[in-house]
Amino acid sequence: MTNGYLLSFEGPDGAGKTTVLEMLFPLLKEKVSQPILITREPGGVQISERIRDVILDINHTQMDSKTELLLYIAARRQHWVEKVAPALEEGHLVLIDRFIDSSVAYQGAGRGLDKEAISWLNDYATDKRQPDMTLYFDVPSEVGLKRISQNENREINRLDLEALELHQKVRSGYLALVNSNHDRIVTIDATKPLNEVVKIAYSHIIGFLEKHSI
Ligand code: TYD
Repeated sequence: MTNGYLLSFEGPDGAGKTTVLEMLFPLLKEKVSQPILITREPGGVQISERIRDVILDINHTQMDSKTELLLYIAARRQHWVEKVAPALEEGHLVLIDRFIDSSVAYQGAGRGLDKEAISWLNDYATDKRQPDMTLYFDVPSEVGLKRISQNENREINRLDLEALELHQKVRSGYLALVNSNHDRIVTIDATKPLNEVVKIAYSHIIGFLEKHSI
């Protein structure tokens, strides 16, 4: 049994969720009494950051899709055991930038790998823990990719260089996930101005915490 709450942030590349998370942190810190942990996948701990470097290296164009999936899962497992699960045990509110749904959308819908295998591997990596709420930042693929190419501060990774078609499949994968998980996933229109997106995300999180009487 864990005491904390796990909220995941998901979306296609260029949806802006990482920026939204950074802007949310000071707002939530002021409002919420419990400790807050913000972390990301793939990465978050040393071993997983090293796996991240292998996955996202733009020179690794020969990487097989199943290898890619297994590396994300390995990174997830280590991050889970070392950082996320202990933080939940200690009662943290954990906000995670990408989690299990990214594997379903990218490796499942995007790469066409077996969804059941992905679901099993996700469960294996997280000891079956699902997020308590997922904020899905929705943006059309063309808009997301345009934002990435215009953002000078963002380092281009191997996934960013993939064809538009992959990114469109990823978005469809997310929309299918939303459709079958209405109780867990809320959709936020990430084409809106940043301040508005932050406001909407903030109100969803506060609403969730109030519902769970924190
Ligand atoms: P990152 O630079 O963190 O992108 P973003 O800021 O959009 O999250 O790179 C992470 C990339 O890894 C991103 O393209 C999504 C991809 N990814 C997967 O394909 N599967 C996964 O399970 C995870 C966690 C990420």
